Amino acid sequence: MKKIIHITALLVVAYLMNSFVLRSGIMKNALPDKTVEQRVDSLLALMTLEEKIGQMTLFTSDWEMTGPTLRATYKEDIRKGRVGAIFNAHTAAYTKELQRLAVEETRLGIPLLFGYDVIHGYKTIFPIPLGESASWDLTAIEQGARVAAIEAAASGLHWTFAPMVDIARDPRWGRISEGAGEDTYLGSAIAVARVKGFQGTGFDNTDAVLACAKHYAAYGAAQAGRDYHTVDISEQVMREVYLPPFKAAADAGVWTFMNAFNEWNGIPATAHDYLLKDILKWEWAFPGFVVTDYTSINEMVPHGYASDYKHAGELSVNAGVDMDMQGAVYYNHLADLVREGKVKESRIDDAVRRILRMKFMLGLFEDPYRFSNAEREKRLIMAPEHLAAARDMARKSLVLLRNEKQLLPLPKTMKTLAVIGPLADSKVDMLGNWSAAGDAKDCVTLLEGIRTKLQGSTQIIYEKGCNVDGTDRTGFAKALAAAKKAQVILVAVGEAGWMSGEAASRTDISLPGVQEDLVKALIATGKPVVVVLMNGRPLTIPWIADNAPAILETWFAGTQGGHAISDVLFGDYNPSGKLPVTFPRNVGQIPLFYNPKNTGRPMNPNDKYTSKYLDAPNTPQWPFGFGLSYTTFEYSDLKTDKKEFDRNETVTISVKVANTGQYDGEETAQLYVRDLVGSVTRPVRELKGFQKVFLKKGESKVIQFKLRADDLRFYNADLQFRAEPGDFDLWVGSHSDATLGTRIVLTR
Ligand code: GLC
Repeated sequence: MKKIIHITALLVVAYLMNSFVLRSGIMKNALPDKTVEQRVDSLLALMTLEEKIGQMTLFTSDWEMTGPTLRATYKEDIRKGRVGAIFNAHTAAYTKELQRLAVEETRLGIPLLFGYDVIHGYKTIFPIPLGESASWDLTAIEQGARVAAIEAAASGLHWTFAPMVDIARDPRWGRISEGAGEDTYLGSAIAVARVKGFQGTGFDNTDAVLACAKHYAAYGAAQAGRDYHTVDISEQVMREVYLPPFKAAADAGVWTFMNAFNEWNGIPATAHDYLLKDILKWEWAFPGFVVTDYTSINEMVPHGYASDYKHAGELSVNAGVDMDMQGAVYYNHLADLVREGKVKESRIDDAVRRILRMKFMLGLFEDPYRFSNAEREKRLIMAPEHLAAARDMARKSLVLLRNEKQLLPLPKTMKTLAVIGPLADSKVDMLGNWSAAGDAKDCVTLLEGIRTKLQGSTQIIYEKGCNVDGTDRTGFAKALAAAKKAQVILVAVGEAGWMSGEAASRTDISLPGVQEDLVKALIATGKPVVVVLMNGRPLTIPWIADNAPAILETWFAGTQGGHAISDVLFGDYNPSGKLPVTFPRNVGQIPLFYNPKNTGRPMNPNDKYTSKYLDAPNTPQWPFGFGLSYTTFEYSDLKTDKKEFDRNETVTISVKVANTGQYDGEETAQLYVRDLVGSVTRPVRELKGFQKVFLKKGESKVIQFKLRADDLRFYNADLQFRAEPGDFDLWVGSHSDATLGTRIVLTR
């Protein structure tokens, strides 16, 4: 009994001491052993309503503009204790300067969170996320996010607005470049890898940052591929296609979500109760906080969903949004809404708890400056191992689309090589969009990579030929003159980095400007031409696809891009990338993705009355999952350990993969499944597994996949998530048109 009294007394003393410590504002030595929840509650009890609303307010610094507005008074706002987080401010020095305002000049000294769009690297820039996704290498993708977090955290940042996990099936939409492509299964696996990479094993070290699953939800389903446009999809499609990557991120422990700009079926995501409260915070029990996208609360007025900003703020906070990015709506109106009884203070407390919890977890009350460390920043930024990781990921992201007569890899010694094109020596375009603190001057261009690789063994003639866009052909003559002297012509064409990303939708996704004419002129010389594509989305390039003997998709390959592309072009790395997104033949086919429904009149070229076009095939230029290698892989002996299985059993699928070519190489074997009959119609096939397998030339391996009834679940007409007995076809192969298949039966 005595012992219990003793312990209780201790706890009471500890609680009083901590309260005193908190009250005095001396946060630094707050007792670290109290549970985070108790510390949050102790602090919350000291806060005024204005101070609480301050924690729910996020402003950008004036270092960068990533949206339509800036706010000149953000430093004064910090001093008034009315800002809880700042974004677009980084480096150890600047974050320390701003943090001091919060910690030493406000009543309670609550530290700021610093957020930034560290999407595919902080200073060492990796390939754009669509490119990283083309690697299908979850370990490498996680490692890329890890490096980004280490560098960001070394520069004072606590929080990245990534991963973007929006499924995108429309390449007119510029933000397809920021995600993992069109497939839910691949997108979910990559979401997990990125969350784990950014958040690491926690925040005890200063080498991890809070991740942010965005843009919740279905932003990629914008009508006509036009950014910010309306999203009108069924709940079945929302739950089956667009939500799973968010659920996967939540299950992986992501600490923040960002709501999308778009509406879903008439309600803006910024105030969508069902998405934010029913699904995210209740069904998924999400413990973190939700931040809006840039002024998305304000935008509910033009959406026609709120009569004014104050009304918008009421709708948004009551729907479950915890922090207002840049809109100053919570800043200006939330206190009045509470006093008018339109918003309960308990809702404010819930939001503030979610935010303070992060700050305690990050150790900011023990040491608000722990992430702002100039020595660590200097040591870690662009560290050699980071550049090596970026080069490794870039190589893995490259997709070989065509290689007639094994033109590639090129020999490292030839008399003359012509390197042509507006993207062959462009540093800034290697970064792609959302390149954070990446610096173009640090980028290795394709030309630089080739020069380094060939080390003078070959005469290299470079000519730009034309610009990425515009009609100027005056550079063609010099380009053709260079081509005529060369044994091989490399031409780098595609998009400028700014032609994809946010607010960068295109109605015509062919090569901009006169680039295709340049390629045609070069091919007309009769010399072997290798087309190197640099782009943030699938492009429609049917003539090039049919006439260029070799085509290498390089996306925007990042700081080490030129070295990585040269590694592949000259055979130091055998390309292994696979498309995470379908390449259509023309924009009229869009939306075109590998797994549509079959319809009642599936395409039959011999039957007029079937689902097809008069002027184009239904098939894409290159399908989801496609990518060649310098070697060849053959699949055979597809077997299942049982033909029939019930919901408690697992089917083991085995297949032999053989390297039948002349190079060692890595293959990504893909498993696709089709539910032949359902209580609602089902897609013609769905990715249900993939495995990367490295095989030396001549080597073969038997690989296995496991499949259970749970893997076959879908949302029926009553929105019940379940598998239904019946026949299932399955295929294993090197892309989504795989033909090696068999049938299994789910009995119950
Ligand atoms: C932008 C983007 C979002 C980004 C945010 C902060 O508008 O939609 O992805 O994280 O603003 O820069």
